Amino acid sequence: MAFGPDRGRPARSIACEAVFPAGTLTFAGAPGWAADTDTAILLSRLPGGRAQTKTIDAAPAISPRLNSPGGPMAWPTRSCPKKMTTGASINTRLAYQQANAREFWKRCCPCSRVPHCTVAVIDLLADGDARTRWAELAAAAQGAPPLPVPQGTDLAERLAELTVPYDAIAEIVAIATRLGEDHLEFIRVCAAAVLRAMGGREVVRFPAPAPPSDLGRFGFVLMYAGLVPVIRDFHAQIGAPDSVSRATLADLGRNMHVYRRRYGTSGFDKQEWLALHFTGRLYQLGRLQFERTAVDRRTASAVSAAGVQTAPGDPVLSVHIPRYLGPLRPAECDESVARAERFFATRFPAEQNQLAICISWLLDPQLAALLGEQSNIATFQRRFALALPPEVDDVSPVVFTFDQPDRPRALLPRRSRLQQAVLDVLDRGGHWYTGTGWFGWPQ
Ligand SMILES: CC(C)(COP(=O)(O)OP(=O)(O)OC[C@H]1O[C@@H](n2cnc3c(N)ncnc32)[C@H](O)[C@@H]1OP(=O)(O)O)[C@@H](O)C(=O)NCCC(=O)NCCS
Repeated sequence: MAFGPDRGRPARSIACEAVFPAGTLTFAGAPGWAADTDTAILLSRLPGGRAQTKTIDAAPAISPRLNSPGGPMAWPTRSCPKKMTTGASINTRLAYQQANAREFWKRCCPCSRVPHCTVAVIDLLADGDARTRWAELAAAAQGAPPLPVPQGTDLAERLAELTVPYDAIAEIVAIATRLGEDHLEFIRVCAAAVLRAMGGREVVRFPAPAPPSDLGRFGFVLMYAGLVPVIRDFHAQIGAPDSVSRATLADLGRNMHVYRRRYGTSGFDKQEWLALHFTGRLYQLGRLQFERTAVDRRTASAVSAAGVQTAPGDPVLSVHIPRYLGPLRPAECDESVARAERFFATRFPAEQNQLAICISWLLDPQLAALLGEQSNIATFQRRFALALPPEVDDVSPVVFTFDQPDRPRALLPRRSRLQQAVLDVLDRGGHWYTGTGWFGWPQ
C-alpha cells in the first residue's frame, strides 16, 4: 500500500539494535548511551508487548539530558508550543517529538549515535501508533460505503473549488485514475471517520505518517474532494451562506501553498486540521476563522479566577488567523467577530459560548514591544486577556513569518520589521512564546 498503514509488513530491524516486532522489544541503545525516563516511557509504549531497556557502558558525559553543550537540557516537550508537560498524553508528545527530534538532538548532543537510536525508537512508535489507529478506524468503519472519488473534469473542478493550486491539479487528476483497492479502502475508512464526526466537536485523527509517495502527498486531497458534496450539504442545512462555505473550504488550497513553500513540491499534510472544516467545526467569517471547541481545564480555571465562571468542556470559540489574507486590520477583525456572533448564535443556538479563546504566537507580549503598540498585531493582542503564562515556542514565529522553518536562519530574509524581530530574538539566544488569550463572548 503506498500510503496509510502498511498492513502485514514483515518485522524490520533498525541499526540501533531495536528490533520490532517479535513479541518483545529489546532496545540496547548505543555504547555510551543511558536511557532517560522519557525514552523509557516511549519504549514501554512500543507495540509488541514488553519492552526492555539495557544500558551499555552508560557514560553520562554524552547523555544529552545531563550534559548538553548549552548546559542541562530538558526534552522539547517541556516547553513546546502545544503546552505539553511530562503529564501530557504520550501520543501528543510523540507527535511533537517526532517532528522535532532530529533538530532537537542536533542542537543538544554532538553524538550522532544518540539521535539515531532515539529517532529510530520514535519512528517505531509512530509506526505502531499508525497501525493501532488504523485498526481502530477500520473497525469503526465496518459497513460504511465507499466514498466516491470524482474523476477527470469533475475532480479538476472540485479541486479548483478547494483552491488547490493549478499546477497540482493535473497531477492529482492523473493519480486519481491509478487508485488501487488499498487506496480506495484507505479513503473509505478515513472518510468514514470524518462522516462520524460531522456536526460535532470531536477530534478526528488519521493514521500517520503518510509515506512520501505521490499518493501519500495527495491521498487526503482526494478524500476531501470526495467529501465536498457532503460538507456543502451540511453547510446548506445549517444555513451557512455559500460564500462562507467556499471561503472555509478554501483553506485546503491555502495549506497546499504552505506545503509547496516549505518542501518545494506539491502536496498536502494538514489532514487533521482540515477535518475541522469538513466536519462543520470551523468557519471562516471574513478575516478570521472560528472553531467550535471546548475549553480545557487550565484555561477554564484561569478564566473563572478572572471572574467568568467557566467549567472544563464548556463550549467556546477558538479564533484562528489565516495566512495570505493581507494585514490584520482592526476594523476587519471587528467585522469578523460581529459576523461570528450572529453566525454561531443562529446556527448553533444550543452551544452557549461564553468565551472566545486564541492560542497563538501572535499573543507573545514581546511582539507589541518590538513592533509598536500601533501595529496590527499589537492591536489584535489587546482584544485578549492572557489566561495562562506564555510558553516557550521558538518554532511558530519562524513557521508563520517565513513559511520555511527548515531553512538555515542565516538565509532567511529580514525585509520586514517582524522578520527582523523574529530572527534578532533567536540570534541573541532569546525565546518566543505562545500565549493563550480569551475575551468574553459576545464581545
Ligand atoms: C497576522 C498577520 C496578518 C499580521 O500582519 P500585519 O497586519 O501586517 O501585522 P502588523 O501590522 O502588526 O505588522 C508589523 C510589521 O510586521 C510585518 N509582518 C507582519 N506579519 C508578517 C509576516 N507574516 N511575514 C513577514 N512580515 C510580517 C509587517 O510587514 C510590518 O513590518 P513593516 O512595517 O516593516 O512592513 C501576519 O503576520 C500573517 O499573515 N501571519 C500568518 C498567520 C498567522 O500567524 N496565524 C496565526 C497562527 S497561530
